[in-house]
Amino acid sequence: MSLDLTVVNLGGLDQIAPGQGRCFVVEGEEVAVFRPRSGGIFALGHRCPHRQGPLADGIIGEGKVVCPLHGHKFDLSTGQGSEPSERAKVFKAWEENGHIFIQCGKETAP
Ligand code: FES
Repeated sequence: MSLDLTVVNLGGLDQIAPGQGRCFVVEGEEVAVFRPRSGGIFALGHRCPHRQGPLADGIIGEGKVVCPLHGHKFDLSTGQGSEPSERAKVFKAWEENGHIFIQCGKETAP
């Protein structure tokens, strides 16, 4: 197996208000993209590892998002949850020329 990396332009940064998150469907996968007030762009798998809560709708603070369903927190950079066994999938994300980009990877047969 190898990893096939794709860079996807999600469009204008202004689709996400500062301090908010938004869910995008990228190559069939739900990705929560966050724009903290403190700066930067971060992306995690949209479905919470606990019970599939919508992470893009969570509150952002101190580098973490709080799941709206049961309040577990996930680090925006590492995906690590407040419960040691929970970790959200992390996507590399960045802003360039006013657009949001993320990098997705799929395992492919060699
Ligand atoms: S579904 Fe996210 S904390 Fe329970």
